[in-house]
Amino acid sequence: MAQNKPRHFLTLLDLSPAELQALITRATELKTLQAQGKNPALFENKVLGMIFEKSSTRTRVSFEAGMAQMGGHALFLSPRDTQLGRGEPIEDSARVLSRMVDMVMIRTFAHETVERFAAYSKVPVINALTDEYHPCQLLADIQTFTEHRGSIDGKAVAWVGDGNNMCQSYINAARQWNFELRIVCPPGFEPRADLLERNRDRIKLCKTPKEAVQDSDLVVTDTWASMGQEDEKKLREQAFAGYQVNAELMSHARSDALFMHCLPAYRGKEVSTELMDAPNAVIWEEAENRLHAQKALIEFLFTHHQA
Ligand code: CP
Ligand code: NVA
Repeated sequence: MAQNKPRHFLTLLDLSPAELQALITRATELKTLQAQGKNPALFENKVLGMIFEKSSTRTRVSFEAGMAQMGGHALFLSPRDTQLGRGEPIEDSARVLSRMVDMVMIRTFAHETVERFAAYSKVPVINALTDEYHPCQLLADIQTFTEHRGSIDGKAVAWVGDGNNMCQSYINAARQWNFELRIVCPPGFEPRADLLERNRDRIKLCKTPKEAVQDSDLVVTDTWASMGQEDEKKLREQAFAGYQVNAELMSHARSDALFMHCLPAYRGKEVSTELMDAPNAVIWEEAENRLHAQKALIEFLFTHHQA
């Protein structure tokens, strides 16, 4: 049977700004429905394959619970227990898995791995974090900001810390949702130069955390050592000294500025213990919104195909 070509979600640029905005609105609608005990069974008979080559708490649980709540099922596939870990090519895995499941979610190291998988997949593929990007987290972050403060269009967002996969996803988000992104990283830890160059019109590289945070509407940070960088932990702690987000740094932001962190967080390192519990730290809701935003994403990918 002839099939339409699937849409994939490998970076935020795979959806148009209008599609992203509609998805955020839908995520909030689905959140309300769930609170009313009215989860629609939109994923009945659907199976999501979840390939995890790195650890996860939030991503695994939000995808798996989300599929179950909407009438579907999710399969956890670890390289330790599948042939992927024994060297079966990603292209072959994509061809086989996509004949059996209705959607695939992948968390891996090289971004190229999700691109290669998607190229051979008959079903939609979701990037659930690579070394380069974490677009699902941005759906939850933008949903959280919008629910608290309305549209993020034209707002100022400060990224303090590592120029990592989250920072690079914020760069794409700044383009798609039209906000100003001020980035401050220790020298040598900046995001990719080509991304900075391509998005020069809405990004500012700052010299100090204070400069980046000044009058911002949202302040965001992440761990100083991402998954796969465990050996650099000590070196990074030294390089990032002075980049902690705490009450003093937040005092330079707007008085109603929100604080976000994708989690897991390391208290006393990139964020102070007290800020994690501050009223403007919306991190637990941010984590919860992964569930709602990804339900909206899955629904979108099931219903939209490439022309
Ligand atoms: N924020 C996030 O993706 O968390 P996990 O690594 O626990 O999935
Ligand atoms: N930058 C972090 C995000 C974890 C959700 C990492 O890649 O480990």
